[in-house]
Amino acid sequence: MALVETEALSRRFGPLRALDELTLGIEQGDWVAVTGPSGSGKTTLLNILSGLDRPTSGTVRVGGVDLAGLSARELAGYRQRTVGLVFQQFHLIPYLTALENVMLAQYVHSMTDRGEAEEALRKVGLGERLGHLPSQLSGGEQQRVCIARALINQPPLILADEPTGNLDAVNEAVVMSLLADLHQRGHTLILVTHDPAIAARAGREIRLEHGRLAAVGLQGDLELQAVLADLWQRLEEDGEGVSVARRGVAELLADGLLAFVDGRIAFTERGRAQASAVVRRIRLAEVLLARTLDRSLAEECGRETPVAAGFEDQVCAFLDHPALCPHGRPIAPGPGCCDREEVPAASGTLEVGA
Ligand SMILES: Nc1ncnc2c1ncn2[C@@H]1O[C@H](COP(=O)(O)OP(=O)(O)OP(=O)(O)O)[C@@H](O)[C@H]1O
Ligand SMILES: [Mg+2]
Repeated sequence: MALVETEALSRRFGPLRALDELTLGIEQGDWVAVTGPSGSGKTTLLNILSGLDRPTSGTVRVGGVDLAGLSARELAGYRQRTVGLVFQQFHLIPYLTALENVMLAQYVHSMTDRGEAEEALRKVGLGERLGHLPSQLSGGEQQRVCIARALINQPPLILADEPTGNLDAVNEAVVMSLLADLHQRGHTLILVTHDPAIAARAGREIRLEHGRLAAVGLQGDLELQAVLADLWQRLEEDGEGVSVARRGVAELLADGLLAFVDGRIAFTERGRAQASAVVRRIRLAEVLLARTLDRSLAEECGRETPVAAGFEDQVCAFLDHPALCPHGRPIAPGPGCCDREEVPAASGTLEVGA
């Protein structure tokens, strides 16, 4: 199950749709960059995931808990247990020292422990600044106090809204390496940024426009084809369900190639036609490579660069209309394959590269 799942999530302010039927999933341990123009709904999304705000409609589940079902008090409890928040504006209490700011966060979590607060600040490189007030700290140092504060209860989900927006290059690098380290240690990181270089460090980018997912966040045709082939195998051949957190699923839902049918994700007619054509071209390429180049193939079906669109029937005829790919998966017949001998369904997997 995905750690974060939203379905048709909307947040309206009067007539304005800050989030508009947004469906997405984020797996535990992911590092996701949320990008998009100013006003596209990035902060609104983070506010809802953190329980600071509530959706107008749709659902949002974190760790399987439907946030809409929680009372204000339960929501505060959820926030304390599950999320660490890092903002662009640091929101430090100006008359408390760095150490006291972190200890205040501990107090909120009912666990004051001076040693642990000092250790948290040492970890972010502020061991020498414990007694400084925010006004005596640089922007980068203040942001590091915020990170220490957000981590005091080891939250599984870290939400960061432009955490380097106010920092110079050196402090940006320090803050980013702290966040990268947290991701390494298993925290799920959702980071809003305007900076493409920072977004590129994430495992995945979610781009918003007008409160919706921007069309096709997949990196070019090859990734789209790999995603379609993977989903085809699962949905159409193996009868497995997929979650919105699976690679490419949210993008294909936004593009109308997938849809929810009876609560399950399935291909639309358009998606099925596109995916089956891609799968045929990939599997023909696998046969071609296995037979003519004697090249060993990836263990998994569907990893090969497909035959170019428009050439598949020619390649199919050249190969004498193979019915199965080298992995034993079926190749759908094309228009010229009517005389092909029916081959019984694969029993087991053929030897790869044979
Ligand atoms: N409390 C509010 N009341 C009314 N409108 C709001 C409120 N909060 C956000 N909005 C509007 O919702 C839209 C989305 O705002 P949001 O702050 O999520 O954008 P953003 O993507 O974070 O932008 P930025 O990159 O500038 O931070 C904007 O048009 C904003 O004006
Ligand atoms: Mg914002």
